Amino acid sequence: MKLRSIELALPDPAGAAAWMVDVWGLFPAEVRGHTHYLRGTGTMPYLVAFEQSDEEFVRSTTFTCSDAELAAIARRVADKGWPACTVTSADPGDGAGLLVELPEGTILRFLAGASQVAPIEGFAKASKRVAPVKLTHVVFNSADAELLGHAVEDVLDFRVSDRTKGMVFVRCNDSHHSTAFARAGFASLNHVAFEMDDLDAVMRGIGWMRDNGFAPAWGPGRHGPGDNVYAYYIAPFGPVIEYSTAVEKVLADYRTGEPDDWTWPEQRIDQWGVSDKDFAGLRVAEERFRCRRDWEAQELAI
Ligand SMILES: [Fe+2]
Repeated sequence: MKLRSIELALPDPAGAAAWMVDVWGLFPAEVRGHTHYLRGTGTMPYLVAFEQSDEEFVRSTTFTCSDAELAAIARRVADKGWPACTVTSADPGDGAGLLVELPEGTILRFLAGASQVAPIEGFAKASKRVAPVKLTHVVFNSADAELLGHAVEDVLDFRVSDRTKGMVFVRCNDSHHSTAFARAGFASLNHVAFEMDDLDAVMRGIGWMRDNGFAPAWGPGRHGPGDNVYAYYIAPFGPVIEYSTAVEKVLADYRTGEPDDWTWPEQRIDQWGVSDKDFAGLRVAEERFRCRRDWEAQELAI
């Protein structure tokens, strides 16, 4: 199972796509109708889709999986009675599978048979170009993060890697987390994290953003759970986005950490302690994009 992409609807997809290419460092993949698809240097056909809509919302967050994983998810989703429908992807990479609505409304899409593309090689480190590789995690705010952590373990066969005072971190492969649920008191998109090649690439990204007039809303820093380096920004078109790198790989027997395992000295909220966090600005940005279901749930034929 792999996290692949997020599909967002917003009023100006062309403007958002241009900024994500010129400033954030993604590459244009394709435009289909009014939907702009952007990719990284990795093998996913796209990481972000921007679809035209008068309102801002998250259409889906897409995972790719095997036929067997998809069939098992379909069985458990049907047993649980979660809203779901079968879907054939019309996005780059094709594939077919399921749209599933979690408790509190987060919508995930699982596709089997989706194709990948050749990576973009030969990226020149000496250039100013910054180039994300792939998505590394998409985090959601939630009213009841504990409930969601248990729910995705039971129904999607994901595993909770760590619980902190603020988050429930969830993995779907050997990466410490591909998603997480923040204990926010409301449901929405928390942030979208892009994996960079290494620490140097994150730092060059921060420099390139600074050249373009953008300061981090939080970072640079290094998280506790997952051990990844981060720099968070508020995109001009709304959502919180992150340059990240080197999230910890974990084994199947990883001991699930509890909040008491992840405490900080006074004044600290990460391992480095070198930067401030714009709590108020991030909170506003985190409330902008919520998942919206515009499809009818159907009985799954198992
Ligand atoms: Fe993150």
